Amino acid sequence: MDHLKWEEIRARAREVSRQAYAPYSGYPVGAAALVDDGRIVVGCNVENAAYGVTLCAECGLISSLVAGGGGRLVAFTCVNGNGEVIMPCGRCRQLLHEHGGADLLVDTPEGVKTMAQVLPQAFGPEDLSKVTEQATR
Ligand code: THU
Repeated sequence: MDHLKWEEIRARAREVSRQAYAPYSGYPVGAAALVDDGRIVVGCNVENAAYGVTLCAECGLISSLVAGGGGRLVAFTCVNGNGEVIMPCGRCRQLLHEHGGADLLVDTPEGVKTMAQVLPQAFGPEDLSKVTEQATR
């Protein structure tokens, strides 16, 4: 993916991080991704007085992707309140993997990597279908 597109999604992530609701951690996060049909989806973290119920920025992004008609994620980035690229948490790598697969490009503080590199040997939909096929044989 070209440099300009990366700059565009990073800018969108920084922009949406300003909408974050993070009164407890004081750590706003903004996420943005390019979808295979060319649209850009975004999300910010939404915390809760019951701390464990907090939604990461990626949750909002995936919800927006699906509610907007679905599609495959092509490139993803997330940033903190300083606008610095951060790694998606482990749970959110799993969430992103479902909708982008092993080839999804993930922005990291060490440069662009594939989902296969940041979530090796991921569990995915094909693991479920393998067992389902065996059970019906
Ligand atoms: N957070 C995200 O939104 N995404 C991540 O991948 C890492 C963590 C949020 C959750 C919480 O609101 C704050 O960052 C501090 O953990």
